[in-house]
Amino acid sequence: MYQALMTGSGLYRPPHQISNAELVQAFNAYAERFNAEHAAEITAGSVQALTPSSVEFIEKASGIKNRYVIDKEGVLDPSRMYPRIPARADDQPSLMAEIAVIAAKQACEQAGIEPSQIDAVYCAAANMQRAYPAMACEIQALLGAQGYGFDMNVACSSATFGIEQAVNAVRSGSARCALVVSPEITSAHLEWRDRDCHFIFGDTCTAVLIQRSEDVAPGKGWDILGTRLATVYSNNIRNNFGFMNRCEDSTWQERDKTFQQEGRKVFKEVVPMAAQHIETHLAALSIAPTDVRRFWLHQANLGMNQLVIKKLVGAEAGSDVAPIILDEWANTASAGSIIAFHEHSKDFKTNDLGVICSFGAGYSIGSVIIRKL
Ligand code: COA
Repeated sequence: MYQALMTGSGLYRPPHQISNAELVQAFNAYAERFNAEHAAEITAGSVQALTPSSVEFIEKASGIKNRYVIDKEGVLDPSRMYPRIPARADDQPSLMAEIAVIAAKQACEQAGIEPSQIDAVYCAAANMQRAYPAMACEIQALLGAQGYGFDMNVACSSATFGIEQAVNAVRSGSARCALVVSPEITSAHLEWRDRDCHFIFGDTCTAVLIQRSEDVAPGKGWDILGTRLATVYSNNIRNNFGFMNRCEDSTWQERDKTFQQEGRKVFKEVVPMAAQHIETHLAALSIAPTDVRRFWLHQANLGMNQLVIKKLVGAEAGSDVAPIILDEWANTASAGSIIAFHEHSKDFKTNDLGVICSFGAGYSIGSVIIRKL
C-alpha cells in the first residue's frame, strides 16, 4: 500500500458574470412576454401566469449574489433563456475538455509536475457533454497524459467521489499521479425560465491532483487521512434528460429534462445527513469536529452550510471555519467544495486539519479529511 497525497488544485473561471439584478431583469422580461403571449389561456385558467422573481428573495433564500457562465447573452435573452454554445467539429477540443485542461494545468503547476506525468484521469462531473468517447480520454490526450481515463457522475458529489477513486488508485499502485477534473457547465442543465430555481447555478471547472508520496518533495501537499462516501436514493433532485428520451418520444424542451428539485425537502433531509456523515467520519479517525481548522463544504445554500456547521461545532459558520464561495460562484455542482478549498487553504500551517465535504443529488455525500504537511 502506497501513501497518497493531494498535491495541487486548479480552478477555471468562465469569462462572463451575471449578477442577481441582471438575472432577475431577464427573467421578469421573459415572464412578462410569456404572460402577454398566453393572456387568453391565463384568463381561461388553462395556463398559470408567471410571477416575477426578485433580487431580495434570491439573496435571502440562498446567499447567491453572482454566477460565472460560459455564455451570458443567450441566458439573458428573454426570447431564449439558455446559453448559446456553438457545436464544435469532432476534430476540435470539446468545451468540457478545454476547460478541464485549463484547470488541470494549474493543478500541475501548483504541484510542480508536468501533465505528462499524470497516469489516471477521472472526469467527475454532474453532466457529460456527450455519451462517448469518454471526456476523460479526450482530456488525457489533450494533456499528453499516460495511463487511462474514465468519466463518472455522482451529481454534486462527483468530485469527492472522484478523489476517493484517485486515492485508491494511488494507494493500490494502479496509478502514481491521478487527476480528478470537474468541468461543470451547469448553465446548460439549469431551467432559467423557472423562477424557483433560475438563480441557483454557475459554471466552472476544478482540478485536484493525487500523487504517490515518494514522488513528492518532503513537506509538500496534504496527507489524506480518509475518504468516506455515502448514497441514499432520492427523487428530490432529478433530471430525466438522457439517451432514452428519443424512444420515449419526449424532447429536451420538456420541463423534466433539465434540473428540478424539491428545494425545501433537500434542505431538511440533507443537512442532518451531511452533519452526521462528517461527524462519524471524523470520529472513526478519533478527530473531534472542533479540532478541524476548516470545513470546505458543498456550496448550494448559505443557510444549509451554516446549519451543518452549527450541528458540528455548535456555532455559526464564520468564514474562517466554513468559507462561503457561493455568493460569488453560485452552486457549481461538484466543483463547489473544491473551489472553497482552492481559494481558502493557502493560510494552512503544518498539521492543520481540514474536511472537504460535498452533498447533493442521489442523495450523495462524500468527505475527504486532510492534514497539511
Ligand atoms: N423570486 C421570488 N420569490 C420566489 C422565488 C424567486 N426566484 N422562488 C421562490 N419564491 C417564493 C416562493 O414562491 C415562496 O412563496 P410562498 O411562500 O408565497 O409560496 C417563497 O418565495 C419561499 O419559497 P421556498 O421555495 O419555500 O424558498 P426557500 O427559502 O425554501 O428557498 C431554495 C428555496 C431552493 C433556495 C432552498 O430551499 C434551497 O436552497 N434548498 C437546498 C437546495 C439544494 O441544496 N439543492 C442542491 C442542488 S444540487
